[in-house]
Amino acid sequence: MAEIIGEPLDRIDGRLKVTGRATYAYEHQIPNAATGVLVTSTIAKGSITSIDSKAAERVPGFLLVLTYQNATKLNNPLNTTAQGQERSPARAITALQDNLVRYDNQPVALVVAETFEAAREGAALVRVQYAPDRHHVDLEKRLAEAYTPKKAGGGGDPATSNRGDVNAGMSEAEARVEQTYWTPFEVHNPMEPHATIAVWDALDHLTLYDATQGVFSDRGRIASLFGLKPDNVRVISPYLGGGFGSKGPVWSHVAIAAMAAKQLNRPVKLAVERPQMFGMVGLRSQTRQTLRLGAKHDGTLTALSNETYSHTSTFDEFVESSTLCARMLYQSPNNSTVQKLVKSDIGTPSFMRAPGESVGTYALEAAMDEMAYALKMDPVEFRLKNYAETDPEENKPWSSKSLRECYTRGAEHFGWSKRKLEPRSMREGHTLIGWGMATAVYPTRRSASNASARLNADGTFSVDAGTQDLGTGTYTIMTQIAAQSFGVNPQQVKFRLGDTLLPQTPVSGGSQTAASTGSAVYLAGQALREKLIQMAVSDTASPLSGVSEQDVVFEGGRLSAKGNPAKGEAFQQLLARRGLPYVEAQANAKPGEEKNKYSMYAFGAQFAEVRVDADLGQMKVSRMVGCFGAGKILNAKTARSQFLGGMVWGASLALYENAVLDERLGRWVNNNLAEYHVPTNMDIGNFEAMWVDEKDDHVNPLGAKGIGEIGITGAAAAVANAVFHATGKRIRELPITPDKLLLA
Ligand code: MOS
Repeated sequence: MAEIIGEPLDRIDGRLKVTGRATYAYEHQIPNAATGVLVTSTIAKGSITSIDSKAAERVPGFLLVLTYQNATKLNNPLNTTAQGQERSPARAITALQDNLVRYDNQPVALVVAETFEAAREGAALVRVQYAPDRHHVDLEKRLAEAYTPKKAGGGGDPATSNRGDVNAGMSEAEARVEQTYWTPFEVHNPMEPHATIAVWDALDHLTLYDATQGVFSDRGRIASLFGLKPDNVRVISPYLGGGFGSKGPVWSHVAIAAMAAKQLNRPVKLAVERPQMFGMVGLRSQTRQTLRLGAKHDGTLTALSNETYSHTSTFDEFVESSTLCARMLYQSPNNSTVQKLVKSDIGTPSFMRAPGESVGTYALEAAMDEMAYALKMDPVEFRLKNYAETDPEENKPWSSKSLRECYTRGAEHFGWSKRKLEPRSMREGHTLIGWGMATAVYPTRRSASNASARLNADGTFSVDAGTQDLGTGTYTIMTQIAAQSFGVNPQQVKFRLGDTLLPQTPVSGGSQTAASTGSAVYLAGQALREKLIQMAVSDTASPLSGVSEQDVVFEGGRLSAKGNPAKGEAFQQLLARRGLPYVEAQANAKPGEEKNKYSMYAFGAQFAEVRVDADLGQMKVSRMVGCFGAGKILNAKTARSQFLGGMVWGASLALYENAVLDERLGRWVNNNLAEYHVPTNMDIGNFEAMWVDEKDDHVNPLGAKGIGEIGITGAAAAVANAVFHATGKRIRELPITPDKLLLA
């Protein structure tokens, strides 16, 4: 049978999406649903002194106003823990539980009405009075207040690392780079804003149609907040219009919708409006990263360190773990990193596509570029000189690493050998042209996942797993994996996801869905195949009765004896004889010993060309090539989209995105898609993603490494390095805007 895994199969859900038939959370038609609209705070810190909702209550169709005075009390919304205990991964939420304002745009009231229009009008009429306290949202002036947390990132890595002696390594160096780099606040802004519909039934069971990256983690958190058994909560999420990490945790609005529905005793739907998404549903913190690099004239690194400051909120802890890549990417004998946090009056920062690595690779790879210039070495050659053959931090072999091929093939495809080393040396008339490159890296993760597979009496094959499709291609790759595992065509497979009634799966975060749930789907197909063979050989009425299991061939909808295709039967006959409507097999795929034995990462190389107007500083990323080594690629078409999407976001981090927080007011200034700049097609030139055929037998049964996040890593650095090559100006504060270039 031909390989189905890897084929560029069209998206299973593509037609539904372009014809408007894919039902997103807010679009589920629930009879008698009322609509809620949030009122959010207009100060960054303080307390509510009064709420006047009289005018809102007079709006025709008004049903309910929820404030801290009448909201349902939740169990441990702030997710606090006893001294010394570790926090659960859930985020603290601020769901109308007290009169304190902790950040700009915090929910302070919900108005529910018969229609969206009435709810919106009512929300606009609610008058909230505040007693503001002095807020703090700046980073630079409060570095002295910073503390070092215990852990960094989602993988439980320590917040500090140390090997060798960085100071000694710096003294023996013949070239040194010591620079500080800044990255901005970013807000996820998926096209589909957060939304939820809460429906309680007469037995006090709650159903949520929620835009979430984790139906099961959502179920667990909501059950705990409301004191329900997890089995009494069902979460449904068949389609998402992007997530990028913001839809990983449960945020305040989900709990608020559920409490409103409970109080009104009718379904309530609630969408977070675009301006409200700045603050209450997570964001990427600013980082201030100080890199120190020392090297010998021949390019050998003698020292490497990264000290990072980032924000957390006053009521929860999140670390933008930008130092992790500096620990393992290069063979530096002396290496140290530390993460420091400053508490700010902002909504809690959270996971955003390649949390840590996206901005960590920017600073590290910009510093590596600066060192390459200091040494007058080609940046690719400099990286190859310090290539880590094994993980220098963990002292473990890589499960696989194709970075060398990525550099070589990416450079070849880009035409890197024609680059002149000297900055400002390539131009066409008034246009300065620059070429830059950087390394991409993202860890390969996996969590326990379940799946089930069924052969139905009509010969169709259905596969279930509760997982989510963020727009990444989960429906499509799972269908391919199931088809190949069971030995049928993808057209014969019906794959279902996005429902807690289906087998339990992990959150779709950390690029782990393909590796985790894909492995479970693969094993479920295999288990079903074995079950059917066993049924046939042990069935005295089957032509295969008594044949040994290894001698049964499973192909084209038939079971037959090896070497004798006539001796056999169709699956349906086997089921029909026993009067079975279906045969089902379950699988549970768990990580094994591989994590202890190997260091597991996807790697890549990014090459960018920018064109800069020599007088005006206007920039365009005219070309980009990313070459990745990410294990088995499960679908060439959806994978390409994933890589390209990440690369575009990296270019955006370099040149456009910046959520501006006014330090005097503590408020978001550009909380809309007109002023929060993301690149358009006009800004993005010819972007190409390619990959190395990488075989990895260690990471998981599929050999797939996960590709949702690696595309953004290294991309901002490649663009920033290209801007330097074009202009000779090193801007160390992203985004690199024309004004910064002109003033430099
Ligand atoms: Mo991703 S930021 O782990 O959803």
